[in-house]
Amino acid sequence: MLQSALEYARANRERYLDQLFDLLRIPSVSTLSEHKPDIQRAAEWLAADMRRVGLKNVEVLPTDGNPVVYGEWLEAGSDAPTVLIYGHYDVQPADPLELWETPPFEPQIRDGEIYARGASDDKGQMFTHIKAIESILATEGRLPINVKLIFEGEEEVGSPSLGPFVVANKEKLAADSSLISDGRIVGPDCPSIVYALRGLTYMEIRIRGPKRDLHSGGYGGSVHNPAQALAEIIAALHDEQGRVTIPGFYDRVRPLSEEERAALRKVPYSLEQWQEETGLEKPWGEPEYTLLERITARPTCEVNGIWGGFQGEGSKTVIPAEAGAKISMRLVPDQDPDEIARLFAGYVESLAPDTVTVEVIKHVGGWPAITPIDSPEMRAAARAYEAAWGVAPVFTREGGSIPIVATFQKELNAPAVLMGFGLDDNVHSPNEHFRLAHFYRGIDTVIHYYYYLVE
Ligand code: BES
Ligand code: ZN
Repeated sequence: MLQSALEYARANRERYLDQLFDLLRIPSVSTLSEHKPDIQRAAEWLAADMRRVGLKNVEVLPTDGNPVVYGEWLEAGSDAPTVLIYGHYDVQPADPLELWETPPFEPQIRDGEIYARGASDDKGQMFTHIKAIESILATEGRLPINVKLIFEGEEEVGSPSLGPFVVANKEKLAADSSLISDGRIVGPDCPSIVYALRGLTYMEIRIRGPKRDLHSGGYGGSVHNPAQALAEIIAALHDEQGRVTIPGFYDRVRPLSEEERAALRKVPYSLEQWQEETGLEKPWGEPEYTLLERITARPTCEVNGIWGGFQGEGSKTVIPAEAGAKISMRLVPDQDPDEIARLFAGYVESLAPDTVTVEVIKHVGGWPAITPIDSPEMRAAARAYEAAWGVAPVFTREGGSIPIVATFQKELNAPAVLMGFGLDDNVHSPNEHFRLAHFYRGIDTVIHYYYYLVE
């Protein structure tokens, strides 16, 4: 019974939270190799918990990178749908450490929020699924649906191993749909279902000039400063309206229909909310698109980092030998991350002056994803949110990326249901947090969803 599972979840809240704290204490940072043992530990910890709650065939599966944790429960019968539940147990680095009010891997509750790296992205959200399953199995001995759970440890570095893993294990992962809690809702009183994610192409530019740093008095005026050359290239990536100027960049962008734009305008995302979240007064970007459209439905090009020359205290008169930048582009359907990488490299090379050496390097990438909103899964998800939050959700798009979603859709033909429970939550920043109430409500939403899928 749905009701008894909900009651069980409520009665076990404290225990569930203690367990989440144990998981949050493991610093499973995927991008830093010194955390390899922690990655392994987090994977083993999850597998142990999954076995304990009654999932079957739980395994920690090695890949070329970080392990994938798999588990299943397939006894609901062949008439019941099979749902592939995905999450990631890896987290972003915690730096800058000095800006955390409490240490990132010592979880704490303050003002109704769980503070820890990974609290929202994605351990806290991922864990709602295991606890929903635990609550149902503990009270009913069975689940209303078949589930396959797959948790990876490389999402924050672009899921390089999971893509090939999915392709190599299509049978094992076959499902009717996927279910992912790794995102945010529009507001605490406005639950939302995300039907599109942006993709990503991540590049780096390195510029080399003189063979060593030069005295800026001795040579200034005769040398094309690499930092200057870099700035010139970066400045040429957008026009004054904030449009990306890479030739061909927009060629495959699926235009937004009037109908979709009208629906997005109804999402209560305000300028005030944006100002509050960013600490900024004035937005920037393509004038003919709303804020929400710019953030979620339009492709972008962003400088993530830029370096070169003297950064220390005081002044040092120098022409740096090198400068560089990390630049990423968020993509929307139907842009192809590899094609965009080629267009970017070609354009930067065309801009490169012959007074310096310009190298373009490609890093991670991922496809954008979009999924229809009129499926039985989406209807069940909307009912589940309404039951747990007391308000019907709105449908919206998300600006962030979860690269494996497109792979699930392409390789497994499994449309995604993106059932997020986060808010802004300082994800990828100091003082990441996750609302305690959303952790509990998340579990309730998931429990409802499993039952509503078979009604
Ligand atoms: N959970 C996020 C994606 C996300 C961000 C959803 C914000 C909703 C709101 C995910 O873990 C993430 O950050 N992904 C990376 C992927 C990249 C490394 C390929 C991203 O979007 O930068
Ligand atoms: Zn995430």
